[in-house]
Amino acid sequence: MAFELRFRKDIAQLQREAEHSKDLKRTLGPMNLINLGIGAIIGAGLFSLTGIAAAEHAGPAVTLSFVLAALGCAFAGLCYAEFAAMIPVAGSAYTYAYATMGEMFAWIIGWDLVLEYAVGASTVAVSWSAYLAKFLAYYEIFLPTSISMSYWQTPPGSVETGIVNLPAMIIVFAVSFLLIRGIQESARANAFVVALKVAVVLIFIGLGFAYINVDNYTPYIPENTGSFGDFGLSGVLKAAGMVFFAFIGFDAVSTAAQEAKNPQKDMPIGILGSLVICTILYVLFSLVMTGVANYTEFKGAAAPVAVAIEHMGISWMGPAINLAIIAGYSSVILVMLLGQSRVFFTMSKDGLLPKLFSDSHPKYKTPWKSNLLFAFVVSAFAGFAPIAIVGEMTSVGTLFAFIVVCAAVLILRKKDPTRERPFKTPLVPLIPWLGILSCGALLVSLCWADWMHAARLFVWLGIGQCIYFVYSAKNSKVRQAQA
Ligand code: ALA
Repeated sequence: MAFELRFRKDIAQLQREAEHSKDLKRTLGPMNLINLGIGAIIGAGLFSLTGIAAAEHAGPAVTLSFVLAALGCAFAGLCYAEFAAMIPVAGSAYTYAYATMGEMFAWIIGWDLVLEYAVGASTVAVSWSAYLAKFLAYYEIFLPTSISMSYWQTPPGSVETGIVNLPAMIIVFAVSFLLIRGIQESARANAFVVALKVAVVLIFIGLGFAYINVDNYTPYIPENTGSFGDFGLSGVLKAAGMVFFAFIGFDAVSTAAQEAKNPQKDMPIGILGSLVICTILYVLFSLVMTGVANYTEFKGAAAPVAVAIEHMGISWMGPAINLAIIAGYSSVILVMLLGQSRVFFTMSKDGLLPKLFSDSHPKYKTPWKSNLLFAFVVSAFAGFAPIAIVGEMTSVGTLFAFIVVCAAVLILRKKDPTRERPFKTPLVPLIPWLGILSCGALLVSLCWADWMHAARLFVWLGIGQCIYFVYSAKNSKVRQAQA
């Protein structure tokens, strides 16, 4: 361990770099940051997983699962806020680990964040394509399976497989070009989409309340069937691990720290504000969904929200919600790709990755080469990969990063207790410990059902370690400076 701890970043140096860096433009205000958070958070988790988690694991108590997952995120969010205000650079959890646990651990986290952002973006792009197909079907337009699904996907009730998921690839490229064009332009487009998707969620909640049948809430926690995760309390926990996906993204706000006008004050507002708003919306949304329709009706439903809407009998809501979901998913992809490029930007500045990841566009001031490269990689994943498997890795990778950030707060409070912290995580060490335990419990609940998740995480991190020793350790600027 001493080996890794030797190579740490100096926080005062990081703060100076953040202040004087001219690579990225500081244009984002508090509202932009909250919008970035909501843009990344509300997506496939809410619109697809709520129904599945209720039908298969928690019943109406999926609302409790949302509260549990939100608690884990709140603890982690408070820890993120302390770091993001103190070290406002683009690297997020990667930089926090570099300053507290040393270079090798920082690399592990930076590499792990690819799972969250790049793999997460391709997963959502595939869902985007499915909702686009559904939307077009309202108007009798049917996309051929061969170009709208990958080899690993089959339409319901068919044996035909696809070849390439072209719409998923196209949306990744479209969003990447927007990101290259500029952070302000991206933030503006994101704000529009966020307004649309929040409006639709509010309409669903507002209209749905009138159609709630309280009988659907009994039994609130259906009895466990005898195996872990099949209803009962373990089912509520299992569902919490599943709907955790719906909260992923609030942390991506911290990757925009270097583009915030007043990061000390606005970073905590962006991270915690978006998390609070989405938690309230999620709890109400899941309450309405499981009140309007019985949880058993969501079993096997490709579009669970549509099942609830059918109960309301409001015909225009189907296409309208579908359209908002399409728009909403694109903002999730946008913020995920933004996060990915900003983490790699910082890693490249530190010499751990080739320089192309930190080359900034002379006019737009965005890491355009990195954006372009990720457009190819993420779209290839979205177009051809077995996304169901890699998609589940998004939550596993994210929970791992959250645990590290909570631990990093504990470490730095011990090592450097007097440093000025514009935002302080309250009740330290209690909150970081609760973050570690709650995120750890969600991680275990995910890996319990499929131990391969843990195995895949180790394989992924193992590949990262090979790259680290072959390239990064040799090119690390911190090492060179200390040598
Ligand atoms: N939280 C994002 C979603 O649910 C990843 O799509």
